[in-house]
Amino acid sequence: MSTRFPDGFLWGSATASYQIEGAAKEGGRGPSIWDTFSHTPGKTLNGDTGDVADDHYHRWPEDLGHIADLGLGAYRFSTAWPRVQPGGRGPANREGLDFYSRLVDGLLERGVKPVLTLYHWDLPQDLEDAGGWATRDTAYRFADYAEIVARELGDRVDLWTTLNEPWCSAYLGYASGAHAPGRAEPAAALAAVHHLNLAHGLGVQAIRSVLPSARASVTLNLHVIRPVDPSSEEDRDAARRVDALANRAFTGPMLSGAYPDDLLADTAQVTDWSFVRSGDTQIIHQPLDVLGVNYYSTGLVRRWDGVSPRSEDDGHDDALGSPWVGADDIEFVRPEGPYTAMGWNIDPSGLVELLLRVHREHPGLPMMITENGAAFPDTVSPDGAVNDPLRIDYIARHLSAVAEAMEQGADVRGYFAWSLLDNFEWSYGYDRRFGLIRVDYDTLERTWKDSAHWYRDVIARNGLD
Ligand code: FCB
Repeated sequence: MSTRFPDGFLWGSATASYQIEGAAKEGGRGPSIWDTFSHTPGKTLNGDTGDVADDHYHRWPEDLGHIADLGLGAYRFSTAWPRVQPGGRGPANREGLDFYSRLVDGLLERGVKPVLTLYHWDLPQDLEDAGGWATRDTAYRFADYAEIVARELGDRVDLWTTLNEPWCSAYLGYASGAHAPGRAEPAAALAAVHHLNLAHGLGVQAIRSVLPSARASVTLNLHVIRPVDPSSEEDRDAARRVDALANRAFTGPMLSGAYPDDLLADTAQVTDWSFVRSGDTQIIHQPLDVLGVNYYSTGLVRRWDGVSPRSEDDGHDDALGSPWVGADDIEFVRPEGPYTAMGWNIDPSGLVELLLRVHREHPGLPMMITENGAAFPDTVSPDGAVNDPLRIDYIARHLSAVAEAMEQGADVRGYFAWSLLDNFEWSYGYDRRFGLIRVDYDTLERTWKDSAHWYRDVIARNGLD
């Protein structure tokens, strides 16, 4: 059955600065927490770093060509804070701003809408040295940075996104240590949750102080968490607790203006949340034009009996600790397959459920799928083609899920495939490939995979056949 999307549905693809740019020491860029982390032995697979990545910093004109040839209506990218403010504070670095200014102009010349994320995880190292996201000041520094970028790029940007997946920044960065800065301090992780939320609110205010009619958003990796045994009260309670940590810790203050009571109670052993000051939740609760939703897979939880080996299949490397702060009696069970190369289960029904939930709980808030896609071990055939039917199938099934949710009332305005290019997949280095376009890491040559050709056709016909 063919599926058509409404006129004006935005077709895009997404990337992030540290994952593609390279040129880590060029153009006046300062070090970020990901430079430090990836250069620390044992932190990333094969010791991979973003020093060169896809060399997008130099190859951006070619990449713009691919964006245009795919027919993308929008391109989601992030600005690297340490390119704009090398030490995370103080005056802007002209060369860094010029780079993004040229990129934005290049997109507009090709009729592609720039969708800009201000923070996709590359915190300037100097700010981490001063306490990072566990420290309140970082939120204010973020607002300064947001204002600088807003002044520079102005109304050339179609949609401003403050943060990408603050869940990962807070819990993987400060609780499990699987991501930079690699700290395993549960109380600091909850402080980071709050300071990221605050950064979002202050960031939206800063952008709108310069650009009153700017369209603003945030991208969350909302989790679809299911109880192993829905008839068990304990399992349902495990799902509720994980939902509070994963989802409502962000949607609560950002979309409803308050932290959920159950989250504060569940984590009372870890922190008293005294880092939340009077007035903070009002700052965080800014009107948004769109909510960015990243979706890859689902999660399955139950109460842990405390005796059998604890199952921790939450889709993330555990590294030093668990990201699930204050939930030590809960276990994550591996959901049913099939799986991608990340070990993530493929379940488009979770996306339908998620979109309908947001629609129900936050009516009137338009959504955009700002990331969805899959890593598979691609092979290059002798004629140079990259046949990736599994990726095509993954994206097609998730697009059908989006269409299904829309039919049931969800207001979804666009879809961005993760990712335009194979890139530095954080702690998995270059080993996991998500791109529509293959990157040969020896030559940096770009080759369209079958999925890129297929996606171009989907865009051209505004739907699936
Ligand atoms: C998301 C990140 C993105 C990419 C995908 C696979 O969590 O936002 O940078 O790594 O996962």
